[in-house]
Amino acid sequence: MKIKIKSPMTVANLGSGFDSIGVALNIYNETEFRITEGKKGKVMIEISGYGKGELEDKKKNLLFKTFKKYVKRNFGYIEIKQKNLIPLRRGLGSSATAIIHGIIGAFLWNGNNFSKKDIAIEATKVEGHPDNVFPSVFGGINIIVKGEREIDFIKIIKDYKLLIITPEKELRTDFARRILPKKISLNDGIFNIQRFGSLVYGLLTSEKNFIKIGTEDKIHERYRIKFIPEGESIIKKLFELGSFGAGISGSGPSIFSFIDNERVKLKIDKFLREKRLEVKTFIAKISKKGTEWSIK
Ligand code: HSE
Repeated sequence: MKIKIKSPMTVANLGSGFDSIGVALNIYNETEFRITEGKKGKVMIEISGYGKGELEDKKKNLLFKTFKKYVKRNFGYIEIKQKNLIPLRRGLGSSATAIIHGIIGAFLWNGNNFSKKDIAIEATKVEGHPDNVFPSVFGGINIIVKGEREIDFIKIIKDYKLLIITPEKELRTDFARRILPKKISLNDGIFNIQRFGSLVYGLLTSEKNFIKIGTEDKIHERYRIKFIPEGESIIKKLFELGSFGAGISGSGPSIFSFIDNERVKLKIDKFLREKRLEVKTFIAKISKKGTEWSIK
């Protein structure tokens, strides 16, 4: 069996929407599985792009580890080729794509009947939070509504352009969550609820001022920004250059910003060069489809 899977990069939180919103962007990780019948269980992993020289080791490969967790049928050989265009451990949802692909590969090989929702729910169990997983699976902008047993989501399709700034130094999600206080004040809670309302309204109506207000946050960014070199001055500069919303992408260290003029990239590149910061910058658009797969 030959399987091809492709899933988009994601930016979670968007400022005020901690663990509650994420957006899919048109940069993708692709995986190809070739699985044969038998009992040997021999594994071959080939990586291109991000993670090359590291993820070939099956003990370090989240995609293979997830596949193994979900596979219920023997296999002779499995060959996994990963083409990773999403930087690893930079708050852009690369681990969500690895988990999603591992589960889809296993489910297809097992012969399970499954929906995209089943994949998103299983992947959230492995990942721990849904706000990268859901937009990667479904595409667009996803608002997550997590209940005791069920997770639901609202999908918004709109065209936005995001400028992403990705620092050289990684920030691990487990660390970036550990440093957050377990309790927030009533005032900070109110602040974020008001901003989140503004964010959703702004995204739906494309009223930039509401998006901009909506990317303000008092729950997580102030604790994490300290670990992003020049993070505060980069966000300040983005606003000066005309960005209508900016903040930390997911748990960081990448920074996202909503732009409508691509010249912002040239200007921020100049600013980053002057600061001698080792970063990559790129512009991406909202990806509407989410995960796609095919079997040959
Ligand atoms: N919302 C998560 C966090 C990251 O900020 O820790 C993405 O799942």
